[in-house]
Amino acid sequence: MASSSQVKALLKSYIEKDEERFYATAMQLAADEAKRGHGKVAEEIRNLINKARTSKSLIADNEGPTLIVRPKKELSDLLSVTYPKVRLSDMTLESELITRLKRLLDEQKQAEKLKAYGLNPRKTLLFTGCPGCGKTMAASAIAGELSMPLFVVRLDGLITKYMGESIAKLRLIFDSIQNTRAVFLFDEFDSIGTHRSVTNDVGEIKRVLNSFLMYIEEDNSDSIIIAATNHPQSLDYALFRRFDELLEFKMPTVELISEFLRNKLSEYKIKKSGIETLAAKALGLSFADIEIACEDAVKSAILKNRKTLSINELQKTLEERISFHNNYKKSD
Ligand SMILES: Nc1ncnc2c1ncn2[C@@H]1O[C@H](COP(=O)(O)OP(=O)(O)OP(=O)(O)O)[C@@H](O)[C@H]1O
Ligand SMILES: [Mg+2]
Repeated sequence: MASSSQVKALLKSYIEKDEERFYATAMQLAADEAKRGHGKVAEEIRNLINKARTSKSLIADNEGPTLIVRPKKELSDLLSVTYPKVRLSDMTLESELITRLKRLLDEQKQAEKLKAYGLNPRKTLLFTGCPGCGKTMAASAIAGELSMPLFVVRLDGLITKYMGESIAKLRLIFDSIQNTRAVFLFDEFDSIGTHRSVTNDVGEIKRVLNSFLMYIEEDNSDSIIIAATNHPQSLDYALFRRFDELLEFKMPTVELISEFLRNKLSEYKIKKSGIETLAAKALGLSFADIEIACEDAVKSAILKNRKTLSINELQKTLEERISFHNNYKKSD
């Protein structure tokens, strides 16, 4: 029989993705069995080890994402994982946001250097701002730049689906944060971050929030934790100081819209003055909306077998997005 310390060592090496230690411990186990005169068991263990060594890696899959970074079964409907290829340079952002995001990336890339001086890299971020202005995309870009997986945590699901056991689930999420170096995005963060004095909740949200505050304070992992919300005004004040960076993704200015349109429409010959006219028209729309309008214009040109994009066509699709929002606001 394997001793409990051997089982613990096996599990520990598995968690730490230390494949060699995993096999060494298993070999030790085989040797112990042999010493006890259990030759057959010892041989079986050795055969299993040899088989495992020659087949695909148990712990790390060097050709792609590591197997271990899939969400655990019990978390699969709260966590989803992707391996983004997006880069910061794919985004159109205010220069201050770019500077602060680059600083985070720099600190993360050179974390060891900072740690040698007893300092920690920035790792907890709160993203606030309008829908469609780049919060999720920035989380993807951070993961892409650092070649880390991105886990999106669906908090609304945590509260509604797991009422009663949500704190235990949150603990499991923080265990994943500890065990798997990745970017963890807590989307719709206001669903737990709501002000603690709100009276109409049944206490569960408050307990989840208090646990979140405690876990984030205790966290000493190498993961990056991002919370994103469109409603920062409803967030509990205690939350703000738990984050290393607060980044606001505002609605784009005319200048940023021009930059975005230049990037999106770079394949089409559109004059600078045309871009400026379009940017002025698009003011009040998010990047996501402007992107849809550009795509609609491109689709329409393709269907009409045209190789060029006309300003008129783009103006029309932008107007469509604006009236879509106006109608939506009216019916709201
Ligand atoms: N700053 C940006 N630069 C370039 N593209 C952007 C930017 N912001 C948004 N987009 C485009 O819009 C899409 C949607 O944006 P994203 O999902 O990041 O918005 P969000 O801020 O997370 O919105 P929500 O609050 O609704 O979750 C992106 O996938 C991207 O195509
Ligand atoms: Mg988002």
